[in-house]
Amino acid sequence: MKFFIDTANLADIREAYDLGVLDGVTTNPSLMAKEGISGDEKVRAHYKAICDIVDDKVSAEVISTDYEGMVKEGKELAKIDDKIVVKIPMIKDGLKALKYFQSEGIRTNCTLIFSAGQALLAAKAGASYVSPFIGRLDDISFDGMELIAQIVHIYGNYGFETEVLAASVRHSMHLLKCAEVGADVVTCPLKVITSLLNHPLTDSGLATFLADHAKAAGK
Ligand code: E4P
Repeated sequence: MKFFIDTANLADIREAYDLGVLDGVTTNPSLMAKEGISGDEKVRAHYKAICDIVDDKVSAEVISTDYEGMVKEGKELAKIDDKIVVKIPMIKDGLKALKYFQSEGIRTNCTLIFSAGQALLAAKAGASYVSPFIGRLDDISFDGMELIAQIVHIYGNYGFETEVLAASVRHSMHLLKCAEVGADVVTCPLKVITSLLNHPLTDSGLATFLADHAKAAGK
């Protein structure tokens, strides 16, 4: 299972990378705005800075919503670095753009997936990744995890190569359930990854080991 970090914050990306468990980064226009990044040149420079930290797979989202615009913008984004994966929204023109990028050998991440039908379309169009949003479905009382399981099952039936990239992952239970149902990738904030470290028995066990060691050494 791959771990991506869902942020445009360079310090968080560096920290996750230094942990040695990071496989990639996803961003979106809201996350870029949160870091105060705007304007073509600054956006490109920021993507480059992210690519310089990690080994591969940095999702960069297009802003255009028409086919020609998405193709033009996606090609520009792909030129920034070989690590870029062009993120395309699940809309009709987006579907056509996915097919185009597949034919050009440019990797894509189809975002804003909220149904199995959308995931099926994206896979048929040749998306490298689909991003179903768990947390946002949970927010409106639909079971986001059920969607992940459904997509994993459908892709398995037909051997689609598109990877299921579980997005909008808000906490460690989301992440662990994704692992159980076989999502290929999860993308989440740094705190979800680091929360996996925590267990009170680890803390108390370590405290006892250190205290016993000190006692035996006469400290
Ligand atoms: C996916 O790529 C999105 O960037 C992200 O996971 C959305 O998460 P949110 O619903 O917490 O904003």
